[in-house]
Amino acid sequence: MIDPSTVERIFEAAQIVEVVGEFVPLKKKGVNYMGNCPFHKEKTPSFVVSPARNIFKCFGCGKGGNAVHFIMEHEQMTYVEALKFLARKYHIEIQEREQTPQQVQQQSDRESMMIVTAYAQRIFSGDLFDHPQGKAVGLTYFVERGFREETIRQFELGYCLEERDAFTKRALAEGFKEEFLVSTGLSIRNERGLFDRFRGRVIFPIHNLSGKVIAFGGRILKTDKQTAKYLNSPESELYHKSHILYGIFQARKAIVQEDRCYLVEGYTDVLSMHQAGVTNVVASSGTALTVEQIRLIRRFTRNVTILYDGDAAGIKASLRGIDLVLEEGMQVKVILLPPGEDPDSYAKSHSATELRDFLKTQEADFIRFKVQLLLQDAGKDPIMRARLINEILHSVAIIPDAIERSVYLRECSQMMDIQEDILNKECARLRARRHSVRLDPARGGQEGSGDASGEGGADGTDHIPGVADRDGAVDVPDFRPAPAVEPGTEQAEKELVRLMMTYGNQPFCPDPDRRDEQMSVNQFLVRELHADELTFSHPLYARVLQEVDAFVGKGGAVPEHHFVRHPDAALASLAATLLASPYTLSRIHARVQATVREEPDLLEDLVPLTLLAFKYHKVMLMIGEVLTEMRQLESSGSDAHLRELQGRYILLNDLKKQLGEKMGHRTIM
Ligand code: CTP
Ligand code: MN
Repeated sequence: MIDPSTVERIFEAAQIVEVVGEFVPLKKKGVNYMGNCPFHKEKTPSFVVSPARNIFKCFGCGKGGNAVHFIMEHEQMTYVEALKFLARKYHIEIQEREQTPQQVQQQSDRESMMIVTAYAQRIFSGDLFDHPQGKAVGLTYFVERGFREETIRQFELGYCLEERDAFTKRALAEGFKEEFLVSTGLSIRNERGLFDRFRGRVIFPIHNLSGKVIAFGGRILKTDKQTAKYLNSPESELYHKSHILYGIFQARKAIVQEDRCYLVEGYTDVLSMHQAGVTNVVASSGTALTVEQIRLIRRFTRNVTILYDGDAAGIKASLRGIDLVLEEGMQVKVILLPPGEDPDSYAKSHSATELRDFLKTQEADFIRFKVQLLLQDAGKDPIMRARLINEILHSVAIIPDAIERSVYLRECSQMMDIQEDILNKECARLRARRHSVRLDPARGGQEGSGDASGEGGADGTDHIPGVADRDGAVDVPDFRPAPAVEPGTEQAEKELVRLMMTYGNQPFCPDPDRRDEQMSVNQFLVRELHADELTFSHPLYARVLQEVDAFVGKGGAVPEHHFVRHPDAALASLAATLLASPYTLSRIHARVQATVREEPDLLEDLVPLTLLAFKYHKVMLMIGEVLTEMRQLESSGSDAHLRELQGRYILLNDLKKQLGEKMGHRTIM
């Protein structure tokens, strides 16, 4: 944790024009600066930087925020990483919050280990380029494999000398402690002493998201040996193999830009694809994909394309792993390479254009791919076919989105020649089973306090209180607990009106990171509702909003007692009721209410949360409308219209999910 006063100093120092200007060429235009947005492709600039407000905003893609937000987005860093990045830039010393002695120990162990791995990388790379043996053996090997110098440098490849303990000796002589040489796995101790794990191997450093070297893979040069082709650093405090993907640091920006991540198996696959200009690529390093790795990718994109070396047994073995990816709500495509090729060899034997064409044209939808693959095997054998159907349904059933599922089921019924009805029922049964396992009383249907799995659960909606059937689906039985909040937006509207009437003129800071940006509660609410072109549906509440809007529009506060003394009796009575019973809060705020803090102190959480709840219910209503329309069209409507509705449905669901996540992750203290 960085302490608040340091955070403040960083915000003060980080001038937006300077921070952004380092990455984006900016031109002064009036009081602002303009440039081409780095977050989406554009020819005419719609990216504005305001030095006065210390923010940036793109009117093309909508991205905007302060200097820290910019660094987070542009460098794909976490909040804390971005703060540290800026602190370094402005030479601000970071005061970390107090930690327990154990945390300090762990922290400093990790740091010591990281210093050792960084050192080792420098030595290995140095030897590759400067040491006679490194040049003759290591560099020659890489060059013969077709890797260009810029690639070798970008990935910080290296070479570890053949002598038994050349590296270890050197490191010890430089003052590095044996403890950390061993814990990082660079050195191994046995009866005969300390020696180099990677001796005589070319080195592929493994970087974490912020580009620090945390581990190594070492490849043996001779292929005839009995020894394993690759040796990797052991698991340690610093390196959790299952949490990292090779190449993620070098790929992260391209993954965001392309909105897609290619997943390959090996180090050399990543390198060769990079060289061919396909830079949004990472490797699982030959192991089965883990949930952590998928979530790592999901920080940057929802689209994954898996490249398979064409060996059927291997592919089948990995199919289950891909179900994990589907379950995270990712869109999965697969590409099958020609027999005997891996992405590295394919990239080597084809031009960069050919490779990119190949990737573009060969991409197949995962489920379709799986059906075809298993169908080939099953032939006409009824038992095999039954098993196949079960397999496929398993994959479809875990897809979070209802429409996507039904599209797949329709297609599968055609491909497998089975009645769609049967597939639907079976799929619903599988889902019901999954959910009955998941909705344990400890978690199910309670307040959305974020998910235990940590960062950004895909399915924030799982934890939102009072959400009626989240799929709204066709086919799926309603196995969820009864909704805790009545559907519709009325409750949230009422709560917003209450906040306006009670606290409307109070100062309010919409962004805890931007303390200088102050406005009133009313100004904030009016601004936000306008931005999304939202109005209230309850006529009385709509009138309150209109009047508040008018006062805010004139730049003023709402006069004291305005509503209580309103000439319209209906409004006056509403005001009286709401003001008199400040604690008849909707359930949305059950959490907030449970705390000892007084409501006025909570405005900064209460106001945005209520607004989110309103938007959430609004989106739910819209989803309901779309579904109704779809059902009506089902028999009579045109395909084009139905598709349009499906598109709308998917967009709305996405929005719902985003809102749900925001609500779930908002911490209320
Ligand atoms: N791997 C490993 N240990 C091994 C073999 C493989 O860790 N003994 C991992 C490596 O990360 C390797 C990946 O699995 O990159 C894929 O293995 P493979 O396809 O055999 O290697 P390639 O990447 O094709 O390497 P090369 O082209 O150098 O043979
Ligand atoms: Mn290979």
